[in-house]
Amino acid sequence: MPAIRLVIGDPASVDTDVLVVPVFEGEAPSEALPGLDAASGGEIARAVSAGEIRGKIYEFFITPAANGWHAGRVAVTGGGKAPEFTTERLRKLAAAAGVQARSRRVTRLAFVVRGQASSIEGVQAVAEGLILATFSGDQYKSADRLGPATAELVVVVPEPAGSSREALERALERGRILGDASNMAREFANEPSNVLTPTVFADRAAKAARAAGLGVEVLDEKAIEKLGMGLLLGVARGSVEPPRVVVLRHEPSGAPAAPVLGLIGKGVTFDTGGISIKPADGMERMKDDMAGGAAVVSAMCAIARLGCPIRVIGVVPMTENMPGGRAVKPGDILTGAGGKTVEVLNTDAEGRLILGDALWYAQQLGATHLVDVATLTGACIVALGKVASGLFGRPDGWRNTVIDVANRAGDRCWPLPLYDEYVDQMRSEIADLVNSGGRAGGACTAAAFLQEFTNNLPWAHMDIAGTAWADEARPFQPKGPIGVAVRTLAELPFTYERW
Ligand code: BES
Ligand code: MN
Ligand code: ZN
Repeated sequence: MPAIRLVIGDPASVDTDVLVVPVFEGEAPSEALPGLDAASGGEIARAVSAGEIRGKIYEFFITPAANGWHAGRVAVTGGGKAPEFTTERLRKLAAAAGVQARSRRVTRLAFVVRGQASSIEGVQAVAEGLILATFSGDQYKSADRLGPATAELVVVVPEPAGSSREALERALERGRILGDASNMAREFANEPSNVLTPTVFADRAAKAARAAGLGVEVLDEKAIEKLGMGLLLGVARGSVEPPRVVVLRHEPSGAPAAPVLGLIGKGVTFDTGGISIKPADGMERMKDDMAGGAAVVSAMCAIARLGCPIRVIGVVPMTENMPGGRAVKPGDILTGAGGKTVEVLNTDAEGRLILGDALWYAQQLGATHLVDVATLTGACIVALGKVASGLFGRPDGWRNTVIDVANRAGDRCWPLPLYDEYVDQMRSEIADLVNSGGRAGGACTAAAFLQEFTNNLPWAHMDIAGTAWADEARPFQPKGPIGVAVRTLAELPFTYERW
């Protein structure tokens, strides 16, 4: 893991290989940082007047440093229009600088925090961004790998804007923990399903959770049967790989009896669709159908490391969805642990089944507030594209709290409705519920199904089908798993006084 440290003071004195400074559109280099142009021996002013640097977002210009600056090279990166600059942009800008540095094989990188009302928020965001850029998903390549992560990262605050050193150090540490947790979720999601079976996922999750100081319990198929989780067992029947449920507990001494946050994540290590099998084209992507579960495991580790003051429980049901000889078939009826019966119309609507049992179990364990995260529906991608997760929940106050935390954490969410008619669409003629409401409003009917398992507790559901995986590389992130929802889930319990 790369080392990251904080420097408060003059950027000229930072000993590093590349020192990156954000510059906004229409801004002179001397406005960005006094002495910056001199540090480049006039190269930056030349590039500005030549139009090579215009401050456009993610623009990157790198040049040797001179004039007594301790950095080997200085770089300016475009921050876009100053009035449009946000903490989320700063996080992405730092990540983009990290990606640039890495492709140049830079081993020591420093980034100057600018444009923030609060240096505390700025330091955390830059730390997150720089750590995010150390992720690479190419460990299975035997050649042409990206190379090692940037080994030494520095966050530079020239003017600490009234914040104490301790507060800034804490912000740095918070950003590091959240960045590391996001990358852990990305590593899980990146693993192929022949490596990351439900058993292996559970073992690795348990190991990581123990290292973070969480209470850990792994339920095997016998324990799952004893609890009567017929929905999860129904999905698991089609596979030779047995299911697991990972239960993680953060129970700090002195925590109040309530609230208790319950985090639930879909952990389908591969989704073939089962008997209602998916088309071959693109099916390989379904190895990341456990991204919600990975987000919960990783966020729980961060919650423990951050010393969250309230109790948080993580529940992750893990299984494959396969069309084996004993697989659940359309028309079969399953009974959930809480007693609800479900007529399975489509075996590809498996996520809501396993989440139904997991939502029930989180309540058995004492959760008073629920949030689930799942790559649940293609319909959510149709509704919102790949630019935002769908966010359902009630009451409205709780839903809005989760949306607010998510947007700040860089996990963009958009609210979707839970009208009563969606639940009506999920009623069965011969059982309590059907598991598929057809094409119309597919993301909403899936959420309405989950709502039936929440017993009127405050609950939010994040559909990350479109946001868990990047199909295209962006300046701040390569193609592949994004680690969506990790920072949202980890930051959420710290807002408990507002619940
Ligand atoms: N894991 C899929 C949802 C998904 C689709 C995630 C595409 C990421 C990309 C989920 O289990 C699923 O198959 N949902 C079905 C539900 C339908 C059968 C009611 C869907 O969305 O088609
Ligand atoms: Mn499915
Ligand atoms: Zn699925």
